[in-house]
Amino acid sequence: MYSAITNFYNRRKDKRMKVNITETVLRDANQSLIATRLPYEKFEGALSLLDKAGYYSLECWGGATFDSCLRYLDEDPWERLRKIKKVCKNTKLQMLLRGQNILGYKHYPDDIVREFIKHAADCGMDIIRIFDALNDMRNIQVAMDQTKKSGLHASGAICYTISPIHTLEKNVQTARELRDMGADSICIKDMAGIMSPKEAYDLVKAIKAEVDLPVVVHTHSTTGLGSMTLLKAVEAGADTIDTAISCFSNGTSQTPTESLVYALEQFGYETGVDQKITKEINDYFKPIQDEYLKSGLLDPVVMTTSTEALLYQIPGGMLSNLVAQLKAQKALDKLEDVLAETPRVREDLGYPPLVTPMSQMVGVQATANVLTGERYKNVSKEVVAYLRGEYGRAPGTVNPDLVKKILGDEEPMTGRYADTLEPAFQKAKEELGSIARSDEDVLSYVAFPQVAEKFFKAREEKENRNVKYTIREID
Ligand code: CO
Repeated sequence: MYSAITNFYNRRKDKRMKVNITETVLRDANQSLIATRLPYEKFEGALSLLDKAGYYSLECWGGATFDSCLRYLDEDPWERLRKIKKVCKNTKLQMLLRGQNILGYKHYPDDIVREFIKHAADCGMDIIRIFDALNDMRNIQVAMDQTKKSGLHASGAICYTISPIHTLEKNVQTARELRDMGADSICIKDMAGIMSPKEAYDLVKAIKAEVDLPVVVHTHSTTGLGSMTLLKAVEAGADTIDTAISCFSNGTSQTPTESLVYALEQFGYETGVDQKITKEINDYFKPIQDEYLKSGLLDPVVMTTSTEALLYQIPGGMLSNLVAQLKAQKALDKLEDVLAETPRVREDLGYPPLVTPMSQMVGVQATANVLTGERYKNVSKEVVAYLRGEYGRAPGTVNPDLVKKILGDEEPMTGRYADTLEPAFQKAKEELGSIARSDEDVLSYVAFPQVAEKFFKAREEKENRNVKYTIREID
């Protein structure tokens, strides 16, 4: 035993093994802690530091950033990406893409998925991480194909969840399918922070043994397992891990970059990250953290550890949604009943991973089942669409009695939902006419019609104001 351990460390000393670090402060940390409200001008001053810190990549776009730019920050998301690229010339830029949902909450036609990725590539994207909420590979296929055709790195993600059917073998099978589809790396994406160190170790080992691709591990600190889970994942051979600069880390965000780099370097791993520069990056973001704490946008509660997710096997964010829902209906005393009903609804739906939009669907249904006193008396239109097969294939078997009750004689669709959608890009372009100044505007519009329209209007008004102001200056 002793010699095995010394051999392990000696081997590390001979040949320092490389572990890549992806910094998430601009995307996931921003999204998980402050509802994606970080505007470009606030992080602009840190970009050159982020670029020279030695990160493998900067996760800086995708997820909720696109919607948030248009909806709350009055920013053109495409412009943001181009501006980041202008400064960050040495570090790969990375985004998160929700497969056929792109950056929204419903399925888009294939031509939109392809155009979107082409334009992201033109604006400077290097790595696209692609996932589907149900791990239905048909919803990843087109995005993966276009990512490769655009010459970018396609990282295929497995949504990690715990259920009787999500076995180690099933996850390894998903990894094989992603490889066969052309993925350049496999990402284990643990949205809820429920993957334990042991589960991470076993899964990374199993994938590495079967699939000859780099493995990326993404988790959250929510339940307090994050750092342990990443350390064991690296020990099992993970090539890349996601972390967040310390003042924007922990809680619902990622584990702290500096601590992971410090610990890994001691074990003989080479991260390439310069600890003096990460100190400067943290110094830069600290006053911003203070500002968000003061304004209330950063709630200290989200930075603490919440272990309920381990007990109930549901994400922390979903639990707080359930509590809020019940409070609003003055039925908080029913919480235990709803928590008992949640896994039953999930089972009826064929064990979907509890990630957006499935977490909301399951939670709302469980609440309705308890509060009405009759299971599936009220069913949301999203659950009906899900039962029809419009979100893709359920991971497990959907309760046939439920399908019969809701759909009657209607047969659920077995094909790919996006195949039923007409191409939409040209049509939207013609419809918009001169309101859209570029193809990128057209894509923003197709993704979020009302929000984009409001944004275009505000942009126009702002420019008119500036013109008047300039004229007055001349006078
Ligand atoms: Co995440």
